[in-house]
This record gives sequence, structure tokens and C-alpha cells, in this order.
Amino acid sequence: MAFSMHAPVQARPEERRQALDDIDLPEGELPGSLAEIYEKSGIPEVFARLDRDLIGLAPVKGRVREIASLLIVDKVRRQLGLTAEPPTLHMSFTGNPGTGKTTVAMRMAQILHQLGYIRTDRLVAVTRDDMVGQYIGHTAPKTKEILKRAMGGVLFIDEAYYLFRPENERDYGAEAIEILLQIMENQRDDLVVVVAGYADKMAKFFTANPGFRSRVAHHIDFPDYGAAELLEIGELMLARQNYRFDAKARAAFADYVKIRMNQPHFANARSIRNALDRARMRQAIRLFQEKDKPLTKESLTTIQEGEIRQSRVFRGGIEGWPEGVPDAQGAGQPGMEK
Ligand SMILES: Nc1ncnc2c1ncn2[C@@H]1O[C@H](COP(=O)(O)OP(=O)(O)OP(=O)(O)O)[C@@H](O)[C@H]1O
Ligand SMILES: [Mg+2]
Repeated sequence: MAFSMHAPVQARPEERRQALDDIDLPEGELPGSLAEIYEKSGIPEVFARLDRDLIGLAPVKGRVREIASLLIVDKVRRQLGLTAEPPTLHMSFTGNPGTGKTTVAMRMAQILHQLGYIRTDRLVAVTRDDMVGQYIGHTAPKTKEILKRAMGGVLFIDEAYYLFRPENERDYGAEAIEILLQIMENQRDDLVVVVAGYADKMAKFFTANPGFRSRVAHHIDFPDYGAAELLEIGELMLARQNYRFDAKARAAFADYVKIRMNQPHFANARSIRNALDRARMRQAIRLFQEKDKPLTKESLTTIQEGEIRQSRVFRGGIEGWPEGVPDAQGAGQPGMEK
């Protein structure tokens, strides 16, 4: 979308100690081993959490580990007086909707903070409208305000290619890019910029803005999830909300996923989240229909087959409108996509 869906969001800052700063090497003295430093850094726990919370994404997790390795080695080298410049950390995340780009960017902010590369683990997420003004003179202050807010942490620019609108001659996006590029160059030790979006549009954007491309050191591609991963993501999301499928519901959801993932407007893990929201709604409706029965913890937490099979996906329907928009035909419950 070309418009901003939200005001800039700030992740809750976590005042955590920067683990690597605790490892004081005596001046010019070699540490025992990298393994030792790694164990002490607190990073293994961060990776364990990343593995636990995010299903699949092996190539992405691999890249995150590579970047962490680089930073740990860089840190040790610097403590030994071996290196001059901190590495460039600006990144580009490409992939389809719902593949985990925003989620990983937030984790990246925590990791970079933990490794002592940024002052806070705060992520400021913006889109074009947060940075580019409508009128002359509005863009520079807007962009600078955002940069000021993000400084010391991560600035996440979703659908960054919309900053650049070559077809529109009175466009102020170029001004925002100009300011951004300067900061990315001159203050790269104090701000990490992560741009995100679809791979093809991002490639075009980089072609049109070579200055941008050359400042982005890490390009990470987020693959679409497979059916088994989507099912696993669904179960994880449910468990986090204290729900679970019974055996038949699980089988029904596996069927649902196989159909839904081949329909238009499929948005990977986000579509799974939306489907589960609807299932929870239907479960609540069923519980109300049986409202004279005594409640049990079991009944409150279990999603049954019917809650999945009621989806119109099983009746040849296509969920062909932006998700979350109520059924225009008014079928079923108000506000529910069937
Ligand atoms: N691998 C995963 N395991 C578990 N949950 C996931 C995974 N990937 C994404 N999610 C969940 O799916 C939802 C969508 O993910 P996220 O917002 O990070 O996607 P995105 O790539 O930024 O999407 P968009 O391009 O539409 O902004 C989030 O609630 C996130 O927690
Ligand atoms: Mg996102």
C-alpha cells in the first residue's frame, strides 16, 4: 500500500545490559576462544528464543547468525586494537506479505543492541507518509524528526520503494531519500536502517537509487512458508493464546491451509493469524449456543473441527478481498469472513 497504515511504532525499549561490553579483555591480550566469548555474550539465548518463536526461516536465521559472527569477531578485533571502522549494518529484507520481515527486524534490533552495536533495542517502523510531506518544505522536518526518534536504534522503512516516485514530478520523496542517505553514511555507527518490501519492487528501487544500494550491506530474502510450516505456525500462535486444536480440527486446518495458500491475497503467517481469529470467534459463538452447559477449561481452550470447516474456503469461496473486511454480502455473522 502506498499509504501509511500506522503512526510510527516504537518497540518497547528493553534496558538490557550489552553483553559483549562485559567482556573486558586486558589491553592487547587475546581472549581464550571465540566459543568462550560467545557463551558469555548472552547471544546463544537470543538465538534459542529466535528458533523457538519463529518457525522455519532457516535461510533468514542463518543470515542473522552470520551477521552476529561478524559483529562478535569485529568486537574482539577492536578490543585488541586491530580494526578501525565498525561494519555497515544497513539491511534490506525482501519477501512476500506475512513472511516475518517486521518480526525479524525487531529481533535484529535486540541482537544488535545486545552485541553493543546500537544504544537501544528500539525499532521505529515507518512508511513513506511518515517521512514525506505533501507540500514544499514539509519533507525535511518530517524526515529529520523520524531520524531523530530512531537514532541509536533501528529505523525500519516498510515498502521503502514508495519513497521514490519517478512518475510524479512534484514529489518530495527524493528529498527524504537524500537526507536518509546522508545519515546512513555519516551516522552508520549510531543508526541501522532496515528497508523492507517485495523483492521485485525493491530491486527496481535499488536500480534507480544506486546510492541506496551501495549503503545496504546485507540483503536477506524471506521465503514463502510451506504448508507444514504454516500449520506449525498456526499451532504455535494458538498455544501462545492458550488455545489448541483437537485432532479433527488440526486435520481440518491442514486442509484449510492447503486450499488457502493457493488462493489470491494469501499473506503467509498473517493469513494464518486471521484464520485463527475467525476460528476463535466461531468457537465463542458455539460456546454461546451451548451456553447452558457447564464451562470447563477444556471447552474454553479447544477449537473444534466445525470452527475450521465453516470457512467459505471449503465451499469454493475465495477470500478475495483484503483480509479482515466484513463479508459484503452479509452472509453469516456480522463482521465475520466466512
Ligand atoms: N516464522 C514464523 N513463526 C511464527 N510466527 C510468524 C512467523 N513469521 C511470521 N509470523 C507471525 O505472522 C505475523 C506477520 O508477520 P510479519 O508482520 O513479521 O510479516 P511481514 O513480512 O512484515 O509482513 P508485511 O510484508 O505484510 O509487512 C506476525 O504476527 C508474526 O508474529
Ligand atoms: Mg511488515
